[in-house]
Amino acid sequence: MRILIPGAGGLVGSALRARAASSIHECVFLERAECDVTDAHHRVEALRRYRPDAVLFCAARTDVDACAVDPTAEAVNVTAPAAWARDVETWLLSSNFVFAGEGPHLPGEAPGPVGAYAGQKARAEAAVLAAGGHVARVGWVYGPNGRTFASTLAARLRAGQAVRALYDLRVQPTWSLDLADALLEMPRGVHHHVGRGEGSWYAVALAVHARVRRGEVVPVRLAELGLTEPRPRDGRLAPASLPPWWERMDALVAAT
Ligand SMILES: NC(=O)c1ccc[n+]([C@@H]2O[C@H](COP(=O)([O-])OP(=O)(O)OC[C@H]3O[C@@H](n4cnc5c(N)ncnc54)[C@H](OP(=O)(O)O)[C@@H]3O)[C@@H](O)[C@H]2O)c1
Repeated sequence: MRILIPGAGGLVGSALRARAASSIHECVFLERAECDVTDAHHRVEALRRYRPDAVLFCAARTDVDACAVDPTAEAVNVTAPAAWARDVETWLLSSNFVFAGEGPHLPGEAPGPVGAYAGQKARAEAAVLAAGGHVARVGWVYGPNGRTFASTLAARLRAGQAVRALYDLRVQPTWSLDLADALLEMPRGVHHHVGRGEGSWYAVALAVHARVRRGEVVPVRLAELGLTEPRPRDGRLAPASLPPWWERMDALVAAT
């Protein structure tokens, strides 16, 4: 298949770019500067120019707190994937945030989102599925080129910083390059792609600290971070099939 990948400049998009050569598919990557997913002209032109068999939709507003106050977030996270899915077979990158309450959650479970970003992802899922598309739920992704906690952890410790790491959130950290390989298999329907190893970001930070041997790791509770939007305390997904985080710590430290 020829797969068009808008939103390719982010964490997951750059992992897909790194792994595309090992895939049987032909991948075409579109960063935001080349293709704004909310612009209908950009969509029509990209589909006309590349004639893809499928779209792997990676574009999103992923700042969870900003999504509650930024009126453009709905357009990127919901309206855009719905529009693309009506035009071409689309795989939507979605989130464990569509579930609140006790996990692990199965692919067939009805979403019960709490919060603006979570609601946007759940509405996007429904729209993409209604158009005949597919959903790939992911969570806690870390790897090169990311802005999230674990993607920047090694660099901050190396710089001698004290890093605050959550210890009261159950997570299934997922190495972006493992995720990319799983996504490029393009399974149809609703699928979960997370690491088999459970833990906390505090445990991950200690493992990285043991390798970097600089900086400091400070345990912190979710409530202490002053975040405005709720986060699922137990957003675990099942089945979890990707390698556990402790097998990827050397790679994380080498790559970030
Ligand atoms: N990373 C995780 O742990 C995680 C967890 C659960 C779900 N997900 C989902 O996985 C997908 C990919 O996430 P990610 O981690 O790769 O996020 P990311 O690093 O924030 O990347 C998202 C990309 O989308 C781009 N984008 C934003 N608005 C756009 C627009 N109007 N048109 C085109 N591109 C636009 C962003 O560009 P700018 O940087 O210029 O804004 C960015 O390059 C998202 O759907 C996210 O909800 C990720």
